[in-house]
Amino acid sequence: MFTFENKTVVVVGGTSGINLGIARCFAKAGANVAVVSRSQEKVDAAVKELKALGANAMGASADVRHFEELVNAMDSFKDRFGEFDVLVSGAAGNFPAKAMDMSANAFASVINIDLLGTFHVMKAAYPHLKKPGASVINISAPQSYIAADFQSHVCSAKAGVDMLTKNLAREWGCEGVRVNSVVPGPIEATEGMNRLAPTKALQDAIIDNVPLGRNGTHEDIGNCCMFLSSQFASYISGVILPVDGAWSLGGYSVSMNAMQNIMSQPKN
Ligand code: HXC
Ligand code: NAP
Repeated sequence: MFTFENKTVVVVGGTSGINLGIARCFAKAGANVAVVSRSQEKVDAAVKELKALGANAMGASADVRHFEELVNAMDSFKDRFGEFDVLVSGAAGNFPAKAMDMSANAFASVINIDLLGTFHVMKAAYPHLKKPGASVINISAPQSYIAADFQSHVCSAKAGVDMLTKNLAREWGCEGVRVNSVVPGPIEATEGMNRLAPTKALQDAIIDNVPLGRNGTHEDIGNCCMFLSSQFASYISGVILPVDGAWSLGGYSVSMNAMQNIMSQPKN
C-alpha cells in the first residue's frame, strides 16, 4: 500500500512492543530505519530483525532523559542515512500506582521519560529533519485526555506530550514539517497492557468495552503512522489521532473502573 524506499525513518523507543511494530512496518515498506532505546541488547536485536526484513537498519543506545545521548544518536543516523523523513517518538514508562503511593522520584521518572524525553527527542532531531516534508509522530495514550486511577503520572505526562505536538505543529509548520500524535488503544502483546491489565478479568473488561470488539495490533498503529507520513496526509498536522476501535468514546473509563475495582480488592 505504501512505499518508503530511500526514506529515512527514526523510531525512538523502537526496540520493543508498539514502536518496534511501527519500525517493522516502515522496514517492510522499504525505508532505512534507525531505532533508539536504553538497552544495547534490545537495540542489537531490533536492528537484526529489521535487517532480516530487508531494510538498511541501524541503532543506538540512549536514554531519552539525557539530551546529549540523543544528539549523538541523531548525528550518527544523519551521517549514515541522511535527513530524516519520519521521526517517531514513543519511549515511555508506566506502572499502576496511586498518586499518594508514589515517591516524588516515581512521579518525576514518568514525566522525565514521557514528556521531557519527547521534547529532547524532537529537539535533538530537529536539525536533521527534512524541511520541507518531514513527518513527526509522537506516540501518546488515552490517558492524555481521560483521567484514570493509578495513572496520574502518565495522564499528566501524555497530556503534555499532546500539547507539545500542537505547539510544534504551529512552530514547525512554516518549514513544511508536520507534527501529529497517535493515540493507541489497548494493543495486544505489549508491555503496557501487561502492566495495566495483568489478569484475564481485566483483559476481558477491556475488550468488552471496545466497540470494535478486539484489541489493536502493532500493524494497526504502524499502518496509521505510514498513512500520516505519506503524501495522502500532506495537509494533516497538529492532530491527536486515536487508533483504538472507539475505546476512548466511553469504554476506556468503564475499563478503568473495572481495573480500580479489581486492584482495590484485598489480596489473599
Ligand atoms: C510506585 C514505583 C513503581 C510502582 C517504580 N517506582 N515502580 N513506585 N509503584 N509500581 C518508583 C521507584 O521506586 C523509583 O522511586 C522511581 O519509580 C523510579 O524507578 P526506577 O526503577 O529507579 O527507574 P528506572 O530504572 O528509570 O525505570 C523507569 C520506570 C520503569 C518507568 C520505573 O518501569 C521502566 O523503565 N519502564 C519502561 C517500560 C514501560 O514502562 N513500558 C510500558 C509503557 S506503556 P524511588 O523514590 O524509590 O527512587 C504506557 C502507556 C500504556 O506508557 C497505556 C495502555 C492503555
Ligand atoms: P514497551 O514495549 O515497553 O516500549 C517502550 C520502549 O521505549 C522500549 O523500546 C524501551 O526500551 C524504550 N524506553 C523506555 N524508557 C526509555 C528511556 N528512558 N530512554 C529510551 N528508551 C526508553 O511499551 P509499549 O506498551 O509497546 O508502549 C509503546 C508506546 O505506546 C508508549 O509510548 C506507550 O505510552 C504507548 N501506548 C501503549 C499502549 C498499549 O496498549 N501498550 C496503549 C497506549 C499507548 P528500553 O527498555 O531498552 O529503553
